[in-house]
Amino acid sequence: MEIDRRDLLRLGLGTFVAAGTALNGWPSRDSTLGAAQRAASAAFTPDVELALTAGAGEARILPGAPTQVWRFSGRVIKGPAATLQPLPDSYLGPVIRLKRGQKVRIRFSHTLSEPSIVHWHGLDVPDAADGHPRLAIPAGAEYVYEFEVINRAGTYWYHPHPHMRTGPQVNQGMAGMLIVSDDEEAAAGLPSGPQELLCVLQDRRFDAKNQLVYPPGMMEQELGFVGDRVLVNGRERPTIPVATRAYRMRFLNGSNARVYKLAWKDGTPMTLLGTDGGLLERATTIPFLTLAPAQRAELLVDLAGRAAGDKLELVSAEYPTRDVSMTMGGMMMGGGGTQPVQGSPFSILTLDVARREPARFRLPDRLSTFHDSWRPKTDAPVRTVPLSFRAMQWFIGGRQFEMDGVAADETVAAGSTHVWELTNTSGMMGTPVAHPIHLHGRQFRVLDRRNSPATSAVAAGVVDAGWMDTVLVLPGETVRIQVPFTEFPGLYLYHCHILEHEDMGMMRNFRVER
Ligand code: C2O
Ligand code: CU
Ligand code: CU
Repeated sequence: MEIDRRDLLRLGLGTFVAAGTALNGWPSRDSTLGAAQRAASAAFTPDVELALTAGAGEARILPGAPTQVWRFSGRVIKGPAATLQPLPDSYLGPVIRLKRGQKVRIRFSHTLSEPSIVHWHGLDVPDAADGHPRLAIPAGAEYVYEFEVINRAGTYWYHPHPHMRTGPQVNQGMAGMLIVSDDEEAAAGLPSGPQELLCVLQDRRFDAKNQLVYPPGMMEQELGFVGDRVLVNGRERPTIPVATRAYRMRFLNGSNARVYKLAWKDGTPMTLLGTDGGLLERATTIPFLTLAPAQRAELLVDLAGRAAGDKLELVSAEYPTRDVSMTMGGMMMGGGGTQPVQGSPFSILTLDVARREPARFRLPDRLSTFHDSWRPKTDAPVRTVPLSFRAMQWFIGGRQFEMDGVAADETVAAGSTHVWELTNTSGMMGTPVAHPIHLHGRQFRVLDRRNSPATSAVAAGVVDAGWMDTVLVLPGETVRIQVPFTEFPGLYLYHCHILEHEDMGMMRNFRVER
């Protein structure tokens, strides 16, 4: 569905939108926030101890003037120096590399002008280490995280999670990859070292002085903020020199709202190795990959048959905006320009086969084994969680975020398994919009999808094969997920990972009780 100004006037939203151009779109900050601190506990002996800080800095992103960003930087206090690996030429946070079983302490502090707190997206950790907004700290304070890595090997990430400010802080540069390895993964013998390519995809918008544009106007906030340039680790359309051998590519969609339709431009099928929660049991071949905000995917690309000088271009293929969102129909937005929309085509990166290297790689038949909780549990309690919109607000489970609020149907026993039925049938102005729904805590699986849109150009690229922590619920769909909840008691979040939706309150707590 396309909306133009006439429709908005008919819907009585004309003045609202006009006001949105002047408003900065953000509610005032709550001054009671940012009081939490947490000190190291004497009872916890870490194998790895890190200091992670966040502060203002500069990055060279576009030709010309540098861009003001907010960035993470880190330091290893104890443990292997390779635990932290800066992404070369990037303003993103250092890659944190952990091993399953490690006990980790991370000391977080910042010098930002507003409270912040870090969340380890995809990790199953005690609630005090989960980065809930109630734990946000002011500049100068320290929050100490202590947890053991119990997750499977996989591509995870970290980003801030303060109350109503996640979108702007991530947009400003606060995000990083967190990679967990384990013995099972090592046994699969996948390409590593220089044959492992990390790709954080983020769309951004810049003004004429190369500065990041945010916040969005009110209407764009309703739809989610999308940029008109796609950056890979903070660089636009990088060319990556490679050899004639196999590569493992780890992708993170670190965008606030953009859904990518990733494909090799020359039509080469994609070999998918893993999803949010690590390796699949077996690699699978897909024509293209629909990657929603916060989702990760691992691909294998074998260039052994290529000639030196060959180029392999990764694109986000064009799709109709309505397949995930609505469009403003070219309406003038805040800055006087036309708002970028979902579904625009982009060139993402190019692999440039620069040299021949004799190396043969054979993909193992089995990459990993899923634990028992993968099997469908027919007696699991079922809860319906509508994703809905009314009075210009998004709702999840019929409610909006309350800092400490938890309803009875949001309470689960530690370690219990539930089926949540995410229904996306009543959308904005009657038109459903796709929502990437994320649960903190344990990884879940997708059981099935119902009422999937028949003509969607992105549906065939949606992967339900592996462990997930973020699932894209397409317009009109009902997606059933089976969630083995964390064993840690406490308060955790579930929310839409369109960061503007999250910041607007499309987020709730669930309580895990022992
Ligand atoms: Cu990636 Cu609650 O977040
Ligand atoms: Cu998370
Ligand atoms: Cu949403």
